[in-house]
Amino acid sequence: MIDARLFAPAALATILRRTGELGFTMASEPAVGALLRTCAATRPGGRLLELGTGTGLATAWLLSGMDAGASLTSVDTDDRVQQVARQCLGDDPRLTLVIEDGLAFLQRTPSEAYDLVFADAMPGKFEGLHESLRVLRPGGLYIIDDLLPQPNWPDDHAARVEGLLADLSAMPTLAIAALEWASGVIVAAKR
Ligand SMILES: C[S@@+](CC[C@H](N)C(=O)[O-])C[C@H]1O[C@@H](n2cnc3c(N)ncnc32)[C@H](O)[C@@H]1O
Repeated sequence: MIDARLFAPAALATILRRTGELGFTMASEPAVGALLRTCAATRPGGRLLELGTGTGLATAWLLSGMDAGASLTSVDTDDRVQQVARQCLGDDPRLTLVIEDGLAFLQRTPSEAYDLVFADAMPGKFEGLHESLRVLRPGGLYIIDDLLPQPNWPDDHAARVEGLLADLSAMPTLAIAALEWASGVIVAAKR
């Protein structure tokens, strides 16, 4: 049977255990992680950005797809959860972990600085969408998930997602694959 976890990066089991111990409920699922790994592998020597490290699950998948010349910066405001990523993945010299508001990070980042952006926090997705696309170079990939309805969504979130999808679909600079799969994923390439 096909199961994304069969090919999981080595650190994943420990990160998952620590994620459960912390009671962190916003973790990415393995299928999305596997897609991220494949996308990361298409960027040899690439500069990758993750907004919303959490405990580092997607971070581990992204690193497992990257080659030795690529680099990944991952940003979160919560040191308590990012600490897990630091302890489990921090020895990897390709990874830079940053504690900062994602929008502030985007605003101080030069245009076209990244080859792939995984926007997994409010900034870069529901706020600062244009900033997030500005830091992506042409040919770069913009990836978001959690777009299909979930029981824990606040009342106003469905409308917010619809607004985001409308904004993205009105952007001629993006070639979008909207995947009704896993938690609901968009992979978009910047023309
Ligand atoms: C959906 S979770 C990230 C999950 C993670 N990428 C994974 O693979 O499991 C969203 C994360 O965004 C972080 N966050 C919340 N507000 C933020 C902000 N303003 N800037 C950056 N990160 C933020 C939260 O602390 C949380 O860890």
